[in-house]
Amino acid sequence: MKNRDFDYDVLPEIKTRWSPRAFDPNRPVADEDLSAIFEAARYAPSCFNEQPWLFLVSRDEETRNKIFDCLTESNQKWAKNAPVLAIMMGKSTFAHNQKNNRWHQFDTGTSWGYLTLEAERRGLITHGMGGFSVDKVRETFKVPEEITIIAALAIGYYGDKDQLPAELKAREFPQPRKPLAEMFFVPED
Ligand SMILES: Cc1cc2nc3c(=O)[nH]c(=O)nc-3n(C[C@H](O)[C@H](O)[C@H](O)COP(=O)(O)O)c2cc1C
Repeated sequence: MKNRDFDYDVLPEIKTRWSPRAFDPNRPVADEDLSAIFEAARYAPSCFNEQPWLFLVSRDEETRNKIFDCLTESNQKWAKNAPVLAIMMGKSTFAHNQKNNRWHQFDTGTSWGYLTLEAERRGLITHGMGGFSVDKVRETFKVPEEITIIAALAIGYYGDKDQLPAELKAREFPQPRKPLAEMFFVPED
C-alpha cells in the first residue's frame, strides 16, 4: 500500500485502515454493522473499568444534520457524503466516587481505536475529526459540563475519490508513519 511499510506482521486491519474522505453518499450503514462497531468500542479497557466513553450517533437525518452543522467548513466539504456522523465524548468524573477521572479521554481514545478496527474488518471506513465546534455541540445537544466533548467521527463506505474537491483528492491516500525507532523515549543517563 502506498506510503505504508511494516517492519513486523500485525493485525491485517491495522495495516489496511486509513482515514479516507471519499465517502459513498448512496450507501447507508446497516444497523447490524453500526451496532457491531460500537460493540467493539464497548470492550476497550479503561481505568477502574469506568467505560467513560459516550457516543452521540446520528441514526436519523435530523441528528446527522445537527452534527454536520457543528463541523468546520473544511470538514463539511467531504463529510457531507458520510451517511453516519458521530461525536465522541467522555465522562470526566468516576461513577464510584465522583472524583476527576484523569484517564477519561485516554480511555475514550482506546475505544475509538477498537471501533475503527472493527469497522475496517467490516469494510466500513471511518474518519476522526478535531475540526468542529465543541461549544456548538454542547449547546445543540445540551451536553452537561462534566462530559468532555472530544472528537467527531464520520462512518460509511468508500465512494468515488474523483468527486472530492481537487485539494482533497490530492491528499486522498494513507498517511505515512515515523520510523518505529522514533517513538521510544530514551531517558538520558
Ligand atoms: C483526534 C483526531 C482529529 C482529527 N481531525 C481531523 C480533521 O478535523 N479533519 C480531517 O480531515 N482529518 C482529521 N483527522 C485525521 C488525521 O489527519 C489522520 O488520522 C492522520 O493523518 C493519519 O492518517 P490515517 O488515519 O489515514 O492513518 C483527525 C484524526 C484524529 C485521530
